[in-house]
Amino acid sequence: MNCKVLENRTIARGFNHLSLAPDKPLGPIIPGQFVMIRVRESMDPLLRRPMSVAGFKPDGSSFGLVIQRIGRGTEILASLAAGDRVDVIGPFGAGFPEPPGAAGELWIVAGGSGVAPFVGMLQPATRPVCRTRVFLGARNSGFLLCADHLSDGADVFLTATEDGSAGVKGVVTDLVERELANGYAPAMIFACGPAPMMRALEKSVSGRDVRLCVSLENRMACGFGACLGCVTKLKTEQRYVAVCRKGPVFDASTIQI
Ligand SMILES: Cc1cc2nc3c(=O)[nH]c(=O)nc-3n(C[C@H](O)[C@H](O)[C@H](O)COP(=O)(O)OP(=O)(O)OC[C@H]3O[C@@H](n4cnc5c(N)ncnc54)[C@H](O)[C@@H]3O)c2cc1C
Ligand code: FES
Repeated sequence: MNCKVLENRTIARGFNHLSLAPDKPLGPIIPGQFVMIRVRESMDPLLRRPMSVAGFKPDGSSFGLVIQRIGRGTEILASLAAGDRVDVIGPFGAGFPEPPGAAGELWIVAGGSGVAPFVGMLQPATRPVCRTRVFLGARNSGFLLCADHLSDGADVFLTATEDGSAGVKGVVTDLVERELANGYAPAMIFACGPAPMMRALEKSVSGRDVRLCVSLENRMACGFGACLGCVTKLKTEQRYVAVCRKGPVFDASTIQI
């Protein structure tokens, strides 16, 4: 689908938020699903880039992206101006599962551009009925992306920065450890961020009755299961699965992070 850029904002050094309006309404989105974007009309760069949908209007008339500029494709995306057009396909993949019911508690743990799926999850029309405790981590206060939006949608909002400029000094998983040690017990944890963050979470919940679901960001080429460029190994069986088709969100007990 052809999308018009409505707005492009720098939200931190190296990060932009893009609002896009598709020419026909985007189908229903499950937070955690992603789109594949041709960053410009020419065939260079050849491959589309995967991006999580970061918030959307319930009628599908616009959606957002949080873009970390790390290479050529993301630099081009971040240089788009209002009125420019990009070609987008999707949404693809399996998003986060149903959160716990009203009696349970959901913890959301995000780092870097990993905030993206939770922007949509915590917007008023789609936020879970259960109590939500959000943990947001960054190197310093300037990189706590979408903090206002996440804190508005959360029952409890906690931050950690590596330099101590906001919230607790340390990494976000220290904060999770602290809350577990204080006796708080989530029914589920949804996480998106760097692989070391998700491995640390897996360790923290090991032996506890908590379902941990993680969103993986493996490199992708096609986005729909044809190239097998994005596979990850299953824990339970000697085989690999395509992250774009079976994920990007997985139950952490089933895959090697
Ligand atoms: C399902 C999914 C959702 C994603 N959601 C977002 C999002 O919401 N916001 C966002 O900023 N990014 C997201 N990404 C990552 C994003 O797709 C890559 O950063 C982007 O494709 C890099 O393109 P590039 O041309 O700028 O970089 P390239 O020039 O292709 O690469 C630059 C450097 O980044 C590394 N790199 C490339 N792709 C990835 C990747 N997937 N993970 C880690 N390192 C990579 C390369 O190895 C290289 O070192 C997502 C990825 C997936 C698979
Ligand atoms: S990106 Fe091609 S199979 Fe997943």
